[in-house]
Amino acid sequence: MATNPRKYLIAGNWKMNKTAAEGVELIKEIDQLIGTQTEVTAVVCPPFTAIESAAKALEGSNVQLGAQNMYPKAEGAYTGEVSPVMLRSLFCTYVILGHSERREYFSESDAFINTKVLAALESSLKPILCVGETLAEREAEKTFDVVKSQLVNGLQGVTAEHADNLVIAYEPVWAIGTGKTATPEMAQEVHAMIRSELSALLGAAAAAKIRILYGGSMKPGNAAELLDQPDIDGGLIGGASLQAKSFVELVEIAKSRS
Ligand code: PGA
Repeated sequence: MATNPRKYLIAGNWKMNKTAAEGVELIKEIDQLIGTQTEVTAVVCPPFTAIESAAKALEGSNVQLGAQNMYPKAEGAYTGEVSPVMLRSLFCTYVILGHSERREYFSESDAFINTKVLAALESSLKPILCVGETLAEREAEKTFDVVKSQLVNGLQGVTAEHADNLVIAYEPVWAIGTGKTATPEMAQEVHAMIRSELSALLGAAAAAKIRILYGGSMKPGNAAELLDQPDIDGGLIGGASLQAKSFVELVEIAKSRS
C-alpha cells in the first residue's frame, strides 16, 4: 500500500470521441458506478461540444469537469478558439494543456503552451501540463533533457503560490494509445526527476504538493503498480476512460492505494 501524501487524481481524456448525447450517457454510467467517493479526484475531459451537457449531467456529482485545450485569451478575434473564461462559465475546473497530440498535429510550442498555462491559472482553471518523450528521443537517451526542457519552458512565470492548482502529466509519446506502458520503474524515474525539477523551480514545499500523473495506456490491469510508485499521483487516461467500467475501476484502484 502506498503512502502517497497527495490525493490521487484520475482524469479521463476523451480526445475527439463522444457526441454530446453519448457523453451524457457515459457520465450517467460513471456517476452510477462511482458512488459518492471523495478520496480520489475524478475528472472527465470531454470535447468542447459535449462540455455544456456534461456539466448539466454532472450537477450534484463529485466527478469534476475539464477541457482538453483552450486559447490563452479571454475573448476576441480568434476564429475557432475557446477561452478560459468560456470554460469557467461551463464549470470546468481543469484543462489539459500541451498534450503530445497538440504538440505533434497542431505544432504547439513550449512557449505557446506556457502562455496557456499562465492564462489558465489566471482564470482559476487548473492546468494539467503534459510532457513526454518520443520513442526516438528515448532511444537516443534524451528522455530527461526533453522532459526537463518541456517542463521548464512550459512553467515560465509560474510561482510556488500556484502549486495547489498545478498538475503535471508525464506521458511518454510511445506509450499513448499503443498498449505499451512504461514499466513502473521507468515511469517513477522520470516522475522523480520531474519532482526534483519542480523543487528547483518552485521550492521543495511546492514540489511536494504538485500532483504528477502518468499517462500512456494506463488501464485497470497495470494501474496498481504504477500508482504504488512514490511520485506517481494518478493517471491521465485516454482509451480506458471511454468506458464507464474501466474508468471507475481505475478510480477504485487509486482509492485502494490512498
Ligand atoms: P491512452 O491515452 O490512455 O489511450 O494511451 C492517454 C493520453 O493520451 O492522455
